[in-house]
Amino acid sequence: MTMLATPRPAELRSATLSRKGRGDEGAPLDLVSDFPAIPAGWAYLDTAATAQKPRAVIEAIARAYGETYATVHRGVYQRSAEMTLAFEAARRRVAGFINAAVPEEIVFLRGATEAINLVASSWGGTQLKPGDRILLSQLEHHSNIVPWQMVAERTGAVIDVAPLDPDGRIDLDAAEAMLTERHKLVAFAHVSNVLGSVLDARRAADMAHRVGAKLLLDGCQALPRLPVDVQAIGCDFYACSGHKLYGPSGPGVLGGRAALLEAMPPMHGGGAMIDQVSFARTTYAPPPARFEAGTPHVVGVLGLHAAIDYVEAIGLDRIHAHETALVAEARDALSSLNSVRLFGPADSAGIVSFALEGVHPHDIGTILDEAQVAIRAGHHCAQPLMAHLGVDATARASFGVYNGKADVAALVRGIERVARIFG
Ligand SMILES: Cc1ncc(COP(=O)(O)O)c(C=O)c1O
Repeated sequence: MTMLATPRPAELRSATLSRKGRGDEGAPLDLVSDFPAIPAGWAYLDTAATAQKPRAVIEAIARAYGETYATVHRGVYQRSAEMTLAFEAARRRVAGFINAAVPEEIVFLRGATEAINLVASSWGGTQLKPGDRILLSQLEHHSNIVPWQMVAERTGAVIDVAPLDPDGRIDLDAAEAMLTERHKLVAFAHVSNVLGSVLDARRAADMAHRVGAKLLLDGCQALPRLPVDVQAIGCDFYACSGHKLYGPSGPGVLGGRAALLEAMPPMHGGGAMIDQVSFARTTYAPPPARFEAGTPHVVGVLGLHAAIDYVEAIGLDRIHAHETALVAEARDALSSLNSVRLFGPADSAGIVSFALEGVHPHDIGTILDEAQVAIRAGHHCAQPLMAHLGVDATARASFGVYNGKADVAALVRGIERVARIFG
């Protein structure tokens, strides 16, 4: 049987990456034709919620369910063995993408949410004692708050909250001053999903390690927007979601240091995560299998491989430059409208949150939708940040590789219309 479950980068480059996106490093990206879900004239500005999928990913998924489908890690027949090879090749691809030391440091889970829950429940559940402290920040997504609250309740650990600087970045000077030897874990967003503020991750790792704490980074918004090198950062855990990286919804990834994963008990029991089972006693497989109970999201993981091929062919530096340029243009235009309040730093990565005086963000979203502009309005799963900003909700535009100046112009026209409607 001949089978190739995931496309090779060269194949991908020649087959599916639009010509205008290739080669010319300085030119703006023009890749919208790679995305069948984005019709002409529709400004999709909700990439921070989920990214649209390029044809390369959709084709990889179709191929995986089509000619090549089988389960992994179980079958003795050739098709399943080949699917297992493709699945493990995807693990190596993810490891290379974030520069994990070995592929075994990559655990496939259900989104960043499950990845953070695994660390909280399994690492936190065994390592935290009454009086130990966990440092979070004011801008965290609920996925990086609630699991820690749950484990704090179980263990008697205490949560501290690092403040933000006036621009909306985690204030690392203040965070450093808060850290003590009682702190066992620091968990920060690498990029804020509301403000787009980028963490100085290397400094956060050094600070945490100086007091003997571990650093978990919530990389959901960073992975599609910045080059990520977990070894250069020196973090202990890195959590992210494939669907934000132009991959299918479903799979997420936990990158964790081998020695830490090795010492962690499983969170879920079932097939594939065991060594030996008897009614007297069960022993567990080594990581990452120990944390991947049950049949994994085989096709989703293969789609994630294709998504990494796609973004790497463009280049993360280039994606970052493209999105920060769009944000700068949007911030510039919106700040000239005097009823608009902008949140977050000027150099935010691909995300801009704003409010319009006297208009609920949901109304902004609805009126923009009539003008074919899709934004997110709400608390963005960051209610403590909303409380800090003194609002219930914000409007948020977030950019991806398929956006361009025309989308910024459509956003600004839409906001001008909202301002006119509400007088
Ligand atoms: C910063 C951040 N963390 C965590 C999550 C949770 O990701 P998922 O729902 O894919 O598990 C999100 C998703 O919006 C996010 O933006």
